[in-house]
Amino acid sequence: MAVADIAPGAVPSPNIWNSPQVYEIENRAVDPERALEAAMRALRPWAGGTVLDVGCGTGFHLPFFARDAARVVGVEPHAGLAAAARRRVADLPNVAVRVGAAQALPLPDASIDVAHARWAYFFGPGCEPGLAELDRVVRRGGAIFVIDNDATRSTFGGWFRRWLPSYDPAAVERFWTRRGFSREPLTIRWSFASRADLAAVMDIEFPPELAATFLAEHDGVEVDYAVNLWWKYA
Ligand SMILES: C[S@@+](CC[C@H](N)C(=O)[O-])C[C@H]1O[C@@H](n2cnc3c(N)ncnc32)[C@H](O)[C@@H]1O
Repeated sequence: MAVADIAPGAVPSPNIWNSPQVYEIENRAVDPERALEAAMRALRPWAGGTVLDVGCGTGFHLPFFARDAARVVGVEPHAGLAAAARRRVADLPNVAVRVGAAQALPLPDASIDVAHARWAYFFGPGCEPGLAELDRVVRRGGAIFVIDNDATRSTFGGWFRRWLPSYDPAAVERFWTRRGFSREPLTIRWSFASRADLAAVMDIEFPPELAATFLAEHDGVEVDYAVNLWWKYA
């Protein structure tokens, strides 16, 4: 994809940019118990409201929100992925997909009830411009949900730390807390249909040598995976 087809400010996301089919396998394996969904619904249900999915990728989560939201908007800076998201929701009249980035959301002020960003752009320090945009577009009484890794625990968290030893979970936590976000720690899991699927996903998430090392150390098709659900009411 040409650089011109990617909105300014996009954070390179080689896993889904280069391998959207494998990322689809990953999405299907994530959180079979739907613990993230239950936690978000308990904090701010979205039935009848307008949901924004920032960094929606190929739109995996859009149909899920569309089941009970009145309206769903996916925003994605990579035009090719946005096109795939549009294809996915072609028969869902209450879903729209826009090309854009978190730092300049193509949405009016106070137009969103629930904003959701999952492993997209909002990784702590550096995402202040996107947070200002969320404050602008989410209406009072709404909520912002940001899902990211918890590197302090779980098998996946351990892999993540070994890959990025300079990652500072305490600094990330301070960042969110200072901006009024609360942390809901959750332990979800990856559950794959086959070892080949797990291996393919490891290859898009980690450099090849590390992926091979981690796989050799880990049996089976299940991986416990700690995440933080950062959330704030608008
Ligand atoms: C790891 S993928 C996750 C995709 C999707 N949230 C999901 O769970 O299937 C990260 C996504 O964030 C998008 N992204 C990168 N920079 C962004 C930005 N500045 N604003 C919004 N989205 C961004 C990428 O293009 C990519 O689609």
